[in-house]
Amino acid sequence: MLLFCDPGIDDAVAIYYAHFHPEIELVGMVAEYGNTSTENAFRNALYLQETLGIHVPLFRGAQGPMTGKEVELHPEIHGEYGLGTINTPEKVDVEIPENFFEVIDLIRAYTGKLTIVTTGRLTSLAVLCLYYHDLLCEKVQEIVSMAGAFFVPGNVTALAEANVYEDPIAAKLVIEHAPMLTIVPLNVTDRLLVPMEMIERITFENGYEMLHALIHYYYDFYEAATIDPLLGTPLHDVVAFSVLMNPEFFTFLTYRVYVESADTETAGATFPDLRELVDLPPAPQHLVAIEANEAAFLEDFERILSSRGRREKADRHG
Ligand code: RIB
Ligand code: CA
Repeated sequence: MLLFCDPGIDDAVAIYYAHFHPEIELVGMVAEYGNTSTENAFRNALYLQETLGIHVPLFRGAQGPMTGKEVELHPEIHGEYGLGTINTPEKVDVEIPENFFEVIDLIRAYTGKLTIVTTGRLTSLAVLCLYYHDLLCEKVQEIVSMAGAFFVPGNVTALAEANVYEDPIAAKLVIEHAPMLTIVPLNVTDRLLVPMEMIERITFENGYEMLHALIHYYYDFYEAATIDPLLGTPLHDVVAFSVLMNPEFFTFLTYRVYVESADTETAGATFPDLRELVDLPPAPQHLVAIEANEAAFLEDFERILSSRGRREKADRHG
């Protein structure tokens, strides 16, 4: 799997899950602006790779949205540098490379076997859609994106989810041009709440102090921001990997999907065309996850992050 991400706390959790899942092979990562700046996201991704012993190419993705607007960062949710209280600029001394288009060689190298997962803004993938559409169609097996909100409240505006809202032009491009797209929206990610007691059990079992601190930071934000008492914290991005590995936990509908890309009150809204008419204009249809089996998701999440075999693998890598 090739991951486009903006770590970001829930992106970090998704990376933990992918790394510890026995059937997921991460082959590369693109880090771009979103929850934090591109530079921070790159350093954070590298820090996670070094901490977990992940040895895959890391590419520097987009620095801002196609709207040309200034990037809106989210230190209040993800911390000053994107990983809670961790100061990665201090910890990771690296020159940020300009290597984005090298990702093409990686996509070619895995022809027919590669799944792309996106857990951030869709800007970098949209660039590939524009420059390398045929390559994506021919070489990539499937694309899964944590993005959007269908008839449920958004998390940036009343209608819009962050990964779409921050670059609706890119989201529209991806939705119109990406082949084999599965969308994992707030409909499912907002409902899958991971209780802190579970994180405490996982930490007790495996000693992932960093994972615990990151999720706690995220939980505290949601607890302060939400009216009703929280049963747990959503961890949006990991759900994209869960959808891939456990499609039976989810209910999908096939929709003709649209994005509001104009700079209006409804910017970033995602909606399906539900008209049952013969003569509709051509539009791409995508799989959208709309419901989830919470108990099954939680059981799998805990099992993967508690798994002994992978823990031993992590220990070997220090
Ligand atoms: O809306 C949730 C998404 O926005 C997640 O990808 C999270 O990391 C934030 O960027
Ligand atoms: Ca993200």
